Amino acid sequence: MTKTLRDMAVEVLTTADGRAKTALSHAHARAWFAARKAGAPMPLGQAAPPLRPARPAKPDLLDPRDVPRRRPGSPAGRAALLHAIAHIELNAVDLHWDMIARFPGHEMPLGFYDDWVKAADEESKHFNLLGDCLETHGSHYGALPAHAGMWRAAEDTAEDILGRLAVVPMVLEARGLDVTPGMIEVFERAQDTQTVAALQTIYAEEVGHVAYGSKWFNYLCGRQGLDPQPVFLDLVRRYFHGPLKPPFNEEKRAQAGLPPDFYWPLTEPAE
Ligand SMILES: [Fe+2]
Ligand SMILES: [Fe+2]
Repeated sequence: MTKTLRDMAVEVLTTADGRAKTALSHAHARAWFAARKAGAPMPLGQAAPPLRPARPAKPDLLDPRDVPRRRPGSPAGRAALLHAIAHIELNAVDLHWDMIARFPGHEMPLGFYDDWVKAADEESKHFNLLGDCLETHGSHYGALPAHAGMWRAAEDTAEDILGRLAVVPMVLEARGLDVTPGMIEVFERAQDTQTVAALQTIYAEEVGHVAYGSKWFNYLCGRQGLDPQPVFLDLVRRYFHGPLKPPFNEEKRAQAGLPPDFYWPLTEPAE
């Protein structure tokens, strides 16, 4: 039986180890794009993705309030920051494969799947780059506790593709565009060229992930005759808990197709 794209997504989601998960993710992305290039796309198929992806035994996942605070001025603080970003990247690998596996029945163009396979492939690279940086610092992914709440947005939007697009790429990944330049400065000050290079790769590629989110959000709204901006504000207020925090990276957000009226109104709690 031919393997389908959604079978491959579920294989990634149910693999626990970070390096094994990202190796599988790279291999599956290569297979998908090779078939696309050959003009014989793999079937999308049907799959039952797990409600939560498999996770390794370490790191321990703690309530965000119980994760020790990071002070990036010290080597230990920078290692903790790296560890936290690696954790975000591993979740991002799963979030993109989950986007592929989770929402059958929407009859999306093949370009939708191309975009999320490419994004998952890039997140896999990001996780490995940061894992390498941690190892250079004598640490590794799993050495420190990590946030337990990362998958909450995915669970909350498991039934709502517009909500998923709004909260994951257009809020959470857009937030990455706001905070990454400051993190690059932290590692520049520490003359950690390996981490600076890794974060610059991440920063450049994350613009694309936010852009895929806004592209397909607008596409789906247009197909249903909905005005994207008020729909977006409603969905973020429903699924994302708390106001968005300025300052925003207006330039990169604009490059990714996120205009200011998609985020400034969300800096205040809903009435
Ligand atoms: Fe990433
Ligand atoms: Fe991303």
